[in-house]
Amino acid sequence: MSKNKEITGENLSPMFSGIIRHYDLINHVFTWGMDIGWRRKLVDECLKLKPEKFLDLGCGTGDLAVNVTRRADERLQVSACDFSREMLAAAARKARKAGVDDKILFIHADAAKLPFSDNYFDCVGISFAFRNMLYKNPAAKDHLAEILRVLRPGGSCVVAETSQPRHKTIRALHHFYVRIYVYAIGLLISGDSAAYKYLTESTLNFYGPDELKKIIIAAGFKEFFYRPLFFGAAGIYRLLK
Ligand SMILES: C[S@@+](CC[C@H](N)C(=O)[O-])C[C@H]1O[C@@H](n2cnc3c(N)ncnc32)[C@H](O)[C@@H]1O
Repeated sequence: MSKNKEITGENLSPMFSGIIRHYDLINHVFTWGMDIGWRRKLVDECLKLKPEKFLDLGCGTGDLAVNVTRRADERLQVSACDFSREMLAAAARKARKAGVDDKILFIHADAAKLPFSDNYFDCVGISFAFRNMLYKNPAAKDHLAEILRVLRPGGSCVVAETSQPRHKTIRALHHFYVRIYVYAIGLLISGDSAAYKYLTESTLNFYGPDELKKIIIAAGFKEFFYRPLFFGAAGIYRLLK
């Protein structure tokens, strides 16, 4: 896609397809490697629920699906879904390397229209794709409705996502860091200014936990749990159906 085209909720798929080559590296550089621990915590939270059917939604390069599969017992059925074919191919490569590709079902689909029956999954995991599904996205309500539909009653959607530190000074420092460092590094490594402009802007303006809770409860979830990571720069959320 054109590097100057403005990215919105409606043209995200080609943007993600365009930044795959350096995607994992850039995430580690942005977070000084902390995302590795955050991702591990997300896997822990998902497995704690002892699911039998698990979906990695917006799987990207497949980290969550691969690590859940590696650590779970044989009975867990894992599906991984993304609307970027290129991301799905990268996820399949990662799964092959880890020796778990035959245990994951890779599905090309949009989160707004998931090809699964009602109440199918015990757990839906979303790793740093929730912001893309909600932020300035005209399909935000459809995404939440679909997650709710495919979860069984009592099932949970567990999310790791950027957040907003509650403390004013920490929030200001965090925003300064994102504005200056994240945009510059993303641009330097990937060369895609539109993509990193979108990622910077959406990170700066995404909901904090209190706003997000209202949206999640209004969408029909029963409970919303939040656990801050690194002073609230990110968080792990659990949305209970
Ligand atoms: C920021 S990346 C995160 C990827 C991966 N989960 C991770 O932890 O690194 C967001 C991913 O979500 C996918 N995505 C965003 N919106 C989506 C939607 N509506 N339906 C399916 N996939 C979506 C993108 O294609 C991209 O691969």
